[in-house]
Amino acid sequence: MTRELSGQAVLVTGAGRGLGRSVAERLASLGVAVGVIDIDSGACRGTAEAIRRAGGTALAYEADVADRAAFADAASRFAAERGRIDAVVNNAMLLKYEPIERVTEAVLDRMLAIGIKGSVWGAQLLLEHMDAERGGALINMASPVAERGYPNTAVYSLVKGALVTLTRTLAAELGPRRVRVNAVAPGSVPTPGAVGLNDPAEYERRARTIPLRRLGREEDNAEAVAFLLSPAASFINGEILHVDGGIAAAG
Ligand SMILES: NC(=O)c1ccc[n+]([C@@H]2O[C@H](COP(=O)([O-])OP(=O)(O)OC[C@H]3O[C@@H](n4cnc5c(N)ncnc54)[C@H](O)[C@@H]3O)[C@@H](O)[C@H]2O)c1
Repeated sequence: MTRELSGQAVLVTGAGRGLGRSVAERLASLGVAVGVIDIDSGACRGTAEAIRRAGGTALAYEADVADRAAFADAASRFAAERGRIDAVVNNAMLLKYEPIERVTEAVLDRMLAIGIKGSVWGAQLLLEHMDAERGGALINMASPVAERGYPNTAVYSLVKGALVTLTRTLAAELGPRRVRVNAVAPGSVPTPGAVGLNDPAEYERRARTIPLRRLGREEDNAEAVAFLLSPAASFINGEILHVDGGIAAAG
């Protein structure tokens, strides 16, 4: 896979920590030039510096993906550096679970803006900066919650459901323009953003009940993203790839 991905320019949002950082590091290890976007400036600089220390290529951009102008500015600067953008990984999200009656308008607006608007902007910016002859790839970070009911996750789950819909719609709409659109649905990875959502006992319970009998690891997800961006996946379009140890399948 190394040679196949080498030389691509890929923007990864929310890559300052957690799954996004792991994706950025894995892609960089395969020779991809990575644009690391995060709302947290220290975090995105940290990821880019770690990649460069490891011998890879990365540029850091502090931006809020919900803010189209800020996201577009970051994408333009990355494209100016690399000549084009080959793929965007829409990973940034605010992870928040709460009972439906506690959902405030401010939180609802913010989560929809990051998860849904940010992903629509990501698709538009890929189209703006990709090489039309080469085409491009878009990956949306979905979740098994898009398909199963999880109490207290209404807003988070509806964002992920929307991303599954966006993935299928854009796969159909953009396929003729050589853009493949897929989603990865990771399951239960104790990232910095996720650990606070579940108490340790819940993670222990999941580790016992997930069909593969362990929690997800950041690398599991990063490998799936690298595969979907590689030429090995050149006929895969509109797929929701579950990287969840069988959570979604088991129901
Ligand atoms: N961890 C899991 O178990 C799990 C499972 C399924 C799906 N996911 C999805 O994977 C993605 C990454 O999750 P994670 O667990 O690594 O979360 P995380 O909170 O650890 O990391 C999210 C990153 O996104 C950044 N971010 C948040 N809002 C942003 C914005 N407006 N603009 C730019 N950057 C922003 C944060 O600063 C942070 O660095 C999310 O889309 C999440 O929904 C995670």
